[in-house]
Amino acid sequence: MCVWRLRFFANLTVGLLAFAAIGCAKPAPQSFEMQNGLLSPEEFESATGAFAEVETPSDGLGAHFNDSSCANCHPAPGQALPGGGSNVTELRAGHEGANNAFSPAPGGTLVTLKALAGLTPEVDALPASENVRERFITPSLFGAGFVESVSDEMLRRTAQDQSARTNGRIRGLVREVDVLEAPGKKAVGRFGWAAQHASLLSFSADAYRNEMGITSRLMPDDNTFLGAIVDDGVADPEDTGGTFGEDVEKFAAFMRALSAPPGASSGDRSAGANIDAGSKTFESIGCGTCHLPQLVTSKSGTLVNGGAFRVPNALGNKIFHPFGDFLLHDIGTGSDVLREGMPVEARHKVRTAALWGLGTRLLRKVPLLHDGSASTLQEAIQRHKNTAAEEAEKFQRLPESEKAKVLQFLQSL
Ligand code: HEC
Ligand code: HEC
Repeated sequence: MCVWRLRFFANLTVGLLAFAAIGCAKPAPQSFEMQNGLLSPEEFESATGAFAEVETPSDGLGAHFNDSSCANCHPAPGQALPGGGSNVTELRAGHEGANNAFSPAPGGTLVTLKALAGLTPEVDALPASENVRERFITPSLFGAGFVESVSDEMLRRTAQDQSARTNGRIRGLVREVDVLEAPGKKAVGRFGWAAQHASLLSFSADAYRNEMGITSRLMPDDNTFLGAIVDDGVADPEDTGGTFGEDVEKFAAFMRALSAPPGASSGDRSAGANIDAGSKTFESIGCGTCHLPQLVTSKSGTLVNGGAFRVPNALGNKIFHPFGDFLLHDIGTGSDVLREGMPVEARHKVRTAALWGLGTRLLRKVPLLHDGSASTLQEAIQRHKNTAAEEAEKFQRLPESEKAKVLQFLQSL
């Protein structure tokens, strides 16, 4: 089995670096219906239930929030499990001051859209002077546990490798972020459009507080109303139990247990040949420099997330195919919002969109790019400028029949 995998990927130039580490790494399970084996059936059911649970004000929902359940924004892409992406967007805002310096809106860049009955939603009170505003679309969470289990070192080497292959033209920005559950420790960010978290537990606490207004030990202060504290009547932290909060631990367990997205069905044999040809062209015109066709997770037992997470057997030493690098690039698509804790050089940079699951995303008519501003594949590719301009031009110069094969390949992911 290992040999077959190696032959298949020997066609691709990217990921050579990953090769050395592969050994006999096994393919990550791919499914929208079944977990990857991390949890017992009972644990998985309980974790899925927590992720899909609709919270109420007595659970601490609000006072200001975006929605009442993780699964409302991250619904099921297949038949069974929630955790997909959707066209739901969130709003971030701020303004430019002297010397083009960016300042977040009062209370932070995230501006919530809903409020408990009788209260004004934050968005309705946002001053017009907070005129840098941007929407961010909801990404899929399938395969997130594999992404979390990639070593910081591999992401740093990916950036170096990009630079070496393009004479310094492309070099993903590696963002070091705090790991909330490992105070004082940093790790390479990979989740969120600004690569703002490395850890799924940290992201869970952040999302529970920022999207739903529910506090935990890792994020103990409630969402504000443009910086003003609003008491929602429930004592903080609202998510108690466990070490960091029973719910946030279950959300993290659920996401870690999700399989990688399956490819869309490849159809008949001639479709298969076109997809193969499209995949080779995708690679030869340089798209794979940022949209890496494969990554390998750390060995089981390795500590990641600043030492807070030991990579379990179900996630360790797995090959997966994200078609992303989880690093930040300026390809001319924004983002103008410089979020809290982001280094200044990250402005206008966006994390590479991982293309796995793209076929399902298109079938469900979820728009593309971080702000959902492109509705077709062609449009998304055309929008690649700046550091990705050369690759996008190579794509535009392809004969129509070759372009069609690249698009067919992308639809098969
Ligand atoms: C209002 C809709 C909404 C709700 C509710 C919501 N999310 Fe999200 N989620 C988003 C959006 C939008 C993003 C992209 C945010 C960004 O990067 O700016 C996101 C990103 C994420 C990511 C990063 C994925 C990646 O690969 O970048 C994780 C992990 C995540 N959410 C987990 C959760 C969990 C756990 C919950 C429940 C506690 C939750 N979300 C609730 C909309 C939502
Ligand atoms: C320099 C790195 C880089 C290169 C090279 C690159 N991309 Fe991208 N790609 C990105 C980034 C970053 C995004 C996300 C941009 C955003 O959301 O604003 C993206 C987004 C996309 C999307 C949208 C996916 C989604 O789910 O929203 C598609 C499709 C895509 N790229 C295809 C390609 C193709 C085809 C090529 C080769 C012609 C290519 N890319 C070359 C960095 C790159």
